[in-house]
Amino acid sequence: MSVSNAPIIGVVGAGTMGRGVAQLFAEGGHAVRLFDAVPGAAARGRQFVADLMQRAVDKGRHTKDQASAVLDRITLCDTLTDLTQCSVVIEAIVEDIAVKQQLFDALEAVVAADAILASNTSSLVVAQIAARCKHPQRIAGLHFFNPVPLMKVVEVIAAVRTSEATVARLRELVEGVGHRAVIAADQPGFLVNHAGRGLYTEGLRILEEQAASPADIDEVMREAAGFRMGPFELLDLAGLDVSGKVMASIYEQFQQEPRFRPSSLVPPRIAAGMYGRKSGEGWYAYGSDGKPIRPVSPVAAANLLPAGLKIWIDPQAEQRGSLAQLAASAGAEVIDARDRAQLFIIQPWGWDASSACIGLGLDARRCVAVDPLPGLKRRRTLMLTAVTDREARDAAAMLLRHDGAKLTVINDSPGFIVQRVLATIVNIAADIAQRGIASVTDIEDAVKLGLGYPHGPLSWGDRIGGTRVLAILRNMQAATGDPRYRPSPWLVRRVGLGVSLLTAEAARA
Ligand code: NAI
Repeated sequence: MSVSNAPIIGVVGAGTMGRGVAQLFAEGGHAVRLFDAVPGAAARGRQFVADLMQRAVDKGRHTKDQASAVLDRITLCDTLTDLTQCSVVIEAIVEDIAVKQQLFDALEAVVAADAILASNTSSLVVAQIAARCKHPQRIAGLHFFNPVPLMKVVEVIAAVRTSEATVARLRELVEGVGHRAVIAADQPGFLVNHAGRGLYTEGLRILEEQAASPADIDEVMREAAGFRMGPFELLDLAGLDVSGKVMASIYEQFQQEPRFRPSSLVPPRIAAGMYGRKSGEGWYAYGSDGKPIRPVSPVAAANLLPAGLKIWIDPQAEQRGSLAQLAASAGAEVIDARDRAQLFIIQPWGWDASSACIGLGLDARRCVAVDPLPGLKRRRTLMLTAVTDREARDAAAMLLRHDGAKLTVINDSPGFIVQRVLATIVNIAADIAQRGIASVTDIEDAVKLGLGYPHGPLSWGDRIGGTRVLAILRNMQAATGDPRYRPSPWLVRRVGLGVSLLTAEAARA
């Protein structure tokens, strides 16, 4: 495993990230020099790695010799000057621009002229960290994710003065230890945190509109859209005190771009200390076992569909055939005559149930909508108009649960839950590509590896259909008047041209 001519890596800051970076490179065969300003901190960092190595031995993932070789490669340093021989120094200290600038100043005086200096900052402008340095071309961001050895993606941040050679060397270094290096411009949130905005901001927007509860939104995103966790579960995990600041900072750094507008629901909850798991209460309350307590849906399951119920299903509905079959098997009658129908079922794209109902000239009291995007196989979403009456709601709920399927009932929401969140994620990714912040391939891989989404965002857009994503966004924009839903030119052009959203600009390909 040891590579004798592998560059020596310096790591400054031996906290959560620094010790992980040290482990990654030591496991990859590099000699690592670990320094921390707080006495004893570097030793604690190394001990943390030692404990992990012991566990790896216990589980048979490393031999004893391999584990001790990894530890032997991590040398503790007392002063910065011990980093003189390092070809690359990675900084993972406190997220404070003045402290980081001072460190980079000091490092320049210590390392060789051709050494690279990289920052693991997650929110600062890399160009600003490099601003006081004599050789900003050899300074870049190298953004790891926690836990470093397990999160297989690393962002190489090319600041405005970073040289191509620096970027290439960092990419090679990262890939040499088995992680995927993606290249991103020195823009707010870089690539992964930028692409991850949609899930949070749109989840919060749905809640603001009182369309659904946090638990319902999470459940639908997991069970109908295939996410590992919903937005509120993720916010509770990361801590709202931390995520709230990130949301506000990315919005401000993007000059108040409406797509990233944070929610007014957040500051009062931060003020009240409702951070999430770490404070025992967030969007969920947590039991003594540390597990979230999930509220029970207030919509009671109706027991019996009224006999001979007459249902009209929109001929344009995506799953008209399956809905009609379901209705028939539940003992309802599907009819074409609107004037005799007791229940209207529609499947709008990007519209809320009320607006869609008005557009079709239906009686909104007897109208419900079913989300066509996830299809009927997975958890179904039933959307009510602002005035759907209780009989229509219960009959529709009964019908949709008739075959044992899971159901979430929500209030009026342009684009239900899945449509609006996925369309937002695709649109943000399309704009990342449009702005040249990262390549299409890097966007795809970074999102899958860094955010754990089941698909890359642009290929997800292709799966849904670019035309459909565009229609959802345009209808949401029309329904709300909110410019956050305006489609990215990347999307508009590719849909117009009839090509995949993965198609790179000819000149850039
Ligand atoms: P941490 O608080 O766990 O560790 C920071 C370490 O740096 C501490 O041991 C501290 O003693 C040391 N330190 C502070 N000032 C120093 C200086 N001037 N010289 C040498 N050592 C110094 O912090 P964490 O979480 O490891 O974060 C480090 C950096 O990585 C920050 O820039 C953070 O934004 C970034 N980051 C953090 C992630 C996370 O999930 N925690 C993810 C990605 C990036």
